[in-house]
Amino acid sequence: MEAKVERLQRDIEALAQFTATPGAGVTRFSFTPEDRAAREYIKAEMARAGLTVREDAAGTVIGRREGEVPGPVVMVGSHFDSVKHGGPFDGTAGVVAALEIARVLQEHNVKTRYPIEFIAMIEEEGGRFGGGLFGSRAMAGKVSREELLRNKDAQGISTAEAMAAFGFPPENIKAAERRPEDLKAFFELHIEQGPVLEAAGIDVGVVETIVGIVEYEVEIGGRPDHAGTTPMTMRADALVAASRVVQAVERLAREAGGGAVGTVGRLEVAPGAANIVPGRVRFTVDFRAKDGRTLADLVAGLKTALHEACQGELTFTLTEKLSVPPVVLPEAIRALLVREAEARGISTKVMLSGAGHDAMVMAGLTDVGLIFVPSRGGRSHCPEEWTDYAALKKGVDVLLGTILQIAEG
Ligand code: GLV
Ligand code: MN
Ligand code: MN
Repeated sequence: MEAKVERLQRDIEALAQFTATPGAGVTRFSFTPEDRAAREYIKAEMARAGLTVREDAAGTVIGRREGEVPGPVVMVGSHFDSVKHGGPFDGTAGVVAALEIARVLQEHNVKTRYPIEFIAMIEEEGGRFGGGLFGSRAMAGKVSREELLRNKDAQGISTAEAMAAFGFPPENIKAAERRPEDLKAFFELHIEQGPVLEAAGIDVGVVETIVGIVEYEVEIGGRPDHAGTTPMTMRADALVAASRVVQAVERLAREAGGGAVGTVGRLEVAPGAANIVPGRVRFTVDFRAKDGRTLADLVAGLKTALHEACQGELTFTLTEKLSVPPVVLPEAIRALLVREAEARGISTKVMLSGAGHDAMVMAGLTDVGLIFVPSRGGRSHCPEEWTDYAALKKGVDVLLGTILQIAEG
């Protein structure tokens, strides 16, 4: 049994049309008209593949194919939201892989012992509300009602308000939870988003470890003053303080070594005028590392840097938006993926994932397998993001064969 390249291409091209920024990459935030259009496409394709379609309380789309017994269920999928001005493959490739696997199983009239659920997760990127991994965290019972009220988009709309307006009552969020005993495994295909596979000429990456991630929102409060009349010694300049912290984030990650990374990706200055001393600065900090100890040290270093930068009248607040520990994925599942690839003449490489994935949250609930397909030039989170369809098909075939084995045994 094999995936069909033309159908993968058709799905990727169709979903790429659902963007808020036509001509400037894919921007598909959650609970927006683009989300609605993509979700309707996914639901229609799932139904066409014979799946029973529903949406969970968080807004994740789930298509189910029954087995001979009612459970536990094998899950396969990824996310269908995107970053701002992202590409057509991040997340979408794994959703399209799931759709295609459903079609192939239908075409061959396959009957499995265990049911299979085909998953299109929501708000993995946190592009709209920050944090991210929303669909999987909801399944793991890790989204609180307080978070739904606290996390707001750039217009000040809370996750709760956006969900309610879109048709998902936020007070029901706990209904999205899944019990570990009801799950057999979760599989995700994703683009690599880095240059390793392409450079090595390898078809498929089998992920061993996913780095841990912490994300914070920092706000530094100073005092807005006249830029011409306030002496340099009498200012409480929030941006100058913030710039020291930005430097510290970069230095801390460099000094930590072991592949640790630290990024300030968004920074807003208020009031934001050439002739006003900055009174308030808000920015994000994203740290990633493959061991929990390093991550904890980075966070401690950030706090020290904030205390040092914010003296006198300067104040700060630090709000945690996301904290997920590093995970090592089960050896037995990795071995199964590698064997399936070998049987199909597809080359593999064991890899580290520096990007976050729903798979890392699902790993707290069940056995997880995560595979990568090559990204051209290693580019991702940009409109140039690309994976050849024939390369995508190889990953889908490995997943298809592996899922069939798990759904039988
Ligand atoms: C998702 O792409 C992430 O790694 O932040
Ligand atoms: Mn991404
Ligand atoms: Mn992704």
